[in-house]
Amino acid sequence: MKIAIGADHGGYSLKEVVVPFIQSLGHEVEDVGCDCSQSVDYPDYALPVCELVAAGKADRGILICGTGIGMSIAANKVTGIRCALVHDMFSAQATRDHNDTNVLAMGERVIGPGIAQEIIRIWLETPFSNGERHVGRLDKVKRIEAKYAQPVHAE
Ligand code: RB5
Repeated sequence: MKIAIGADHGGYSLKEVVVPFIQSLGHEVEDVGCDCSQSVDYPDYALPVCELVAAGKADRGILICGTGIGMSIAANKVTGIRCALVHDMFSAQATRDHNDTNVLAMGERVIGPGIAQEIIRIWLETPFSNGERHVGRLDKVKRIEAKYAQPVHAE
């Protein structure tokens, strides 16, 4: 798969660790930054990752900040994105199985690199169950998204 990844300064160090790990699993990585630990704003990195995923130019996205919270909030504003904030292996599996999440958010200040890599491996390998009840619930989520969708204007 092609994986888009982005981080702010709070997630930069973990991103540098997980990029080669994702490549070692056989995936292609598009890294949108940031490129150092200087202070930046997480929405500026959540948006390009989510736009790549929403446009079908990346199969999945991974976002890292200090807590993962800001990244996940920003990601879930983008139409078509289902982002889960995950810090344990059970949730990594369940959110693919039940929610068909296409973006994963994590916090570098919350978990270490070993757990982060295992979460990523599980999240990338677990398929959506396609179970009827889960599809129905996701359809309801999509209806909420459609209800509040605003026309996009060029800036
Ligand atoms: C940056 O200090 C921090 O606020 C950010 O990385 C993230 O945790 C926000 O949710």
